[in-house]
Parts: sequence; structure tokens; C-alpha cells
Amino acid sequence: MTKKIVVIPGDGIGKEITDSAVAVMKKTAAKHSLNLEYDYKDAGGTAYDKYGVPLPDETLNACKAADGILFGAVGGDKWDSVEPALRPEKAILGLRKGLGLYANLRPVKVADSLTEYSPLKQELVKGVDLVIVRELVGGIYFGEKCESEQHNGAERAWDLENYSVPEVQRIAKLAFETARLRRCKVTSVDKANVLATSRLWRRTVAEVSEAYPDVELNNLYVDNTAMQLAVKPTQFDVILTGNIFGDILSDEAAVIGGSIGMMPSASIGELTSLYEPIHGSAPDIAGKGIANPVGTILSAAMLFRYSLKEEQAALDIEKAVDDALAAGWRTADLWHEGFKKADTEAMTQAILDNI
Ligand code: IPM
Ligand code: MG
Repeated sequence: MTKKIVVIPGDGIGKEITDSAVAVMKKTAAKHSLNLEYDYKDAGGTAYDKYGVPLPDETLNACKAADGILFGAVGGDKWDSVEPALRPEKAILGLRKGLGLYANLRPVKVADSLTEYSPLKQELVKGVDLVIVRELVGGIYFGEKCESEQHNGAERAWDLENYSVPEVQRIAKLAFETARLRRCKVTSVDKANVLATSRLWRRTVAEVSEAYPDVELNNLYVDNTAMQLAVKPTQFDVILTGNIFGDILSDEAAVIGGSIGMMPSASIGELTSLYEPIHGSAPDIAGKGIANPVGTILSAAMLFRYSLKEEQAALDIEKAVDDALAAGWRTADLWHEGFKKADTEAMTQAILDNI
């Protein structure tokens, strides 16, 4: 049976990195006798320039019918003055909401060969293997907001944070299921000493945890978590958190691995799921052919794992990446004397050679 993959390159380096990942997907699919069909769609600033909207209906509808979505990156200073509702970022937010992508999984695993790139001491990052499970369609991102109003004689703006019990239950279950396939430890992150939404979050997570007696549950405040990630990142297995805390902590966690260019993510929905590197569109290096394609290639591995249920194909891609790195290939963001310098194409080829 043919599976439909929608590819959304987006803006900036998006085209280069999704081209690389699709090349790796094609070779992997052939090896495992899988039939995949690739349908390219526009989103982000590129779509805004063509159609006047960052997320055309055609793109959203194609995604709804897809078995999996590979997403590059959106945004760039070129669209900084576009009105908020039409900004490129609205494309990814619209896809998350429109497709019900309620869970964002961001694994951070530091290969021994890459500990030197971490801003933390090597002995602290050796062995880091955690995943952030971030709620993605609720919280302050999608609550009611006001861009400007008069209040007591001053202009003000506001964003409302709200979480319902079913929203927390759904993401908590996924975190506990994820932990079961790993080291059976969930750290739920909130700000329950201050926020009402966090108190409901903490109570609900505790209730869900009763069905998972084999998984250890800890609660941590978000400020302490930010500190613990820098002090002892190896203590974490699964970090479960809401939308905005997850946004902030996942950038912090990503940098522990040395290069944000290496980090993949999966945004899981009930009907379909979307896979994207966690870095942005890097307009400063777009079109130069030097972007690091690894984050997108590892996102494609996650697509094989979660959407196509092809674990071996996912493992093949992950191993091919590890082997290319172990052989000394490095893109410009990671290269220094003693390594083989690769542009996007050479890095992709080094990975393809190991499939
Ligand atoms: C991310 C990004 C997005 C977010 C932006 C582009 C809207 O930072 O995926 O983490 O804030 O969720
Ligand atoms: Mg972010």
C-alpha cells in the first residue's frame, strides 16, 4: 500500500534540508520495500508571498489526508513587518491546531562523539538521553488574547493561559507510555506554587499516574527545571510539560547536545503527525548549501517510527547518522580542524552511504 507523505519545505534553509531528508527517506523506503509518495506543499513566508496567507487551505487539507508530514522551517526577517495574524509562524501554529497535533516529542541524546560541542562540561553531558513531551495545542499559546486595550488609563495587552483536565490527561498518558519504552521516569514540570493552571496540571498528572505504577513520577517547578538541566541533565528521562514551558525548556535542552542543527521533533496527533527539526529557517545561510541536514533527517527517522510504525527503518537512519558522525563528517556549524568538512550535500551523501 502506498503511504502519502506531505513535504513542506517552508522558508530559508527549509528546501535544502527537506531535500536531504527526502533523499534519505527514499533510500530507506526502497531498502524496506515501502511505497511512499511525496506531495510538496507551501507554507510560511513563501506561501504568504504567493497567496497572501501563511497556511493555504490546500496545504492544510493535504496534511489532513497524509500518513505523515515532513516540515522544514518557517520565518525570516523579510516578514517581520507582516501583521501578526499573517506571520510565517502562524503556519506552524495553524497546522498544530488544525491537525490536532497535541504532543511534541523532542528527544535530546548526546552521542559520545559530540559531547565536546556542548556548552556544558563534557562529564555533565556524557550519557544524556531525555525526551521532552510538550503539550502543543493548548495553554497560553492558544488562549484568548488582546493585542491592545485601555485599562486604568494605560495601554495593555494580555494572553490567557487555560488547561482543561482532558487536555492534561491526554498529554500525561502519552508521557507515561513514552516513559514505559524508556527508563520509566516522568518529571512533570509546572509552576504550581504560583499558577492555578499548574495546580490543575499537577493534580491531573498524579491521577493519570495511578494507572502507571511501574513509572516513577516527580514534580518540579519550571525555574528549578531550567537550573537542573544545566546542573545535572542526566537525571531526566521524560520531561512532561505544558506549551510555553516546553517551548523554553526544549531550546535549553537542545543546546546541551551542542548543536541545535542536530535535533529532531515529532508533533503527534490523533489522525496524522508532523516531523520537523527544532531549529529555525536560518535566513542568513539559506541557499548556500551549507545547512546541517541532520535534525531533519532524524525527524524523518521519527516519521518512520511513529507514523509508519517502521521501527527498523527508523533505527537504520539513526545508525547511518551516527556512523557518518563517527567517520568524522561535520557540517560548518560543528566543523573544526581534524574533521572532514561537509556541505549539506556531502553530509547527506555520507549518511546515504550508510543506509
Ligand atoms: C517551536 C517554535 C515555535 C513555538 C514558534 C516558531 C511559533 O519556537 O516549535 O518551538 O513557539 O512553538
Ligand atoms: Mg521554540
